[in-house]
Amino acid sequence: MSNEQVQGLGGRFTFPGGRLAVNRLGYGAMQLAGKGVWGPPPDVGGALAVLREAVAAGVNHIDTSDYYGPHVTNEIIRRALHPYPKGLVIVTKIGARRPADGSWQPAMSPADLTQAVHDNLRNLGLDALEIVNFRMMGAGHGPEEASIAEPVAALAELQKKGLIRHIGLSNVTAKQVAEAQGIAKVVCVQNNYNLAHRDDDALIDDLTGQGIAYVPFFPLGGFSPLQSSTLSSVAERLEATPLQVALAWLLHRAPNILLIPGTSSVAHLRENLAAARLPLPSGVLHELDGISAAAGANRH
Ligand SMILES: NC(=O)c1ccc[n+]([C@@H]2O[C@H](COP(=O)([O-])OP(=O)(O)OC[C@H]3O[C@@H](n4cnc5c(N)ncnc54)[C@H](OP(=O)(O)O)[C@@H]3O)[C@@H](O)[C@H]2O)c1
Repeated sequence: MSNEQVQGLGGRFTFPGGRLAVNRLGYGAMQLAGKGVWGPPPDVGGALAVLREAVAAGVNHIDTSDYYGPHVTNEIIRRALHPYPKGLVIVTKIGARRPADGSWQPAMSPADLTQAVHDNLRNLGLDALEIVNFRMMGAGHGPEEASIAEPVAALAELQKKGLIRHIGLSNVTAKQVAEAQGIAKVVCVQNNYNLAHRDDDALIDDLTGQGIAYVPFFPLGGFSPLQSSTLSSVAERLEATPLQVALAWLLHRAPNILLIPGTSSVAHLRENLAAARLPLPSGVLHELDGISAAAGANRH
């Protein structure tokens, strides 16, 4: 991969331990399953094309889970990209299961987690998983305090067996990150964060200091993409799209932020990847910082 390609994707980030690195602009594969992240997508050929285009553009960080579909997204990744190019880092997450009604249920016992690791290995066609995030499932949306010692210890055991190379966490609080770090080395945290939803600002600053990756899920707002008059007006002035500005803002927010925007469309993929080349003047950054305060005021 050329230096130009790496710079064009936001530069490179090296995970703790120093042996694993990715370009900061990656791809999230959840949108490749059918509606409601259930079953096959309406256009399998289109899904394969998105993955192949991403890798051809230099993306070397793909986020997935075997519970997307379930199994469907991993099977599509395997079909599109196996044998995987050198340097491609596929990050998966475990901690949930999808019963026949399509709901998302916790599956966090050591036996569930072991089963999920084997499902990921089989469906991705791998002997070991580069990074596995333990995804904490609470009663509602967003993280909630509870001990995660048992599941993290289960992942550490799977790491000792060589099935997992690195451990990450998802949907967790700062206290849970600290608890997990007492048990295993944590290389990344994946939580809900974007221009309008900034509950994790303090956690990000702490992880930046520790050199741990922070990977926002819903970087574009998730199921209802971000909308804000400030964002639209900035985008118009910069001759970019609002979602490109939202991604560029995240890249500016902290050097340990890695992006995994999701899309089922090659056109949207190209637009999202181009965001890394969008310069944001400091006055604009200040303006964009006001969006979360306005969103917070609207929430109350
Ligand atoms: N750890 C967790 O609990 C968790 C939770 C959710 C997601 N994730 C991960 O995070 C990744 C990103 O989250 P996400 O995919 O849910 O949300 P997202 O990246 O914030 O937004 C995806 C949505 O934006 C649309 N979109 C993407 N690019 C666009 C563009 N350029 N113009 C217009 N619309 C665009 C997509 O529709 P189109 O398909 O039409 O482009 C889709 O509806 C996922 O793929 C998944 O890997 C993790």
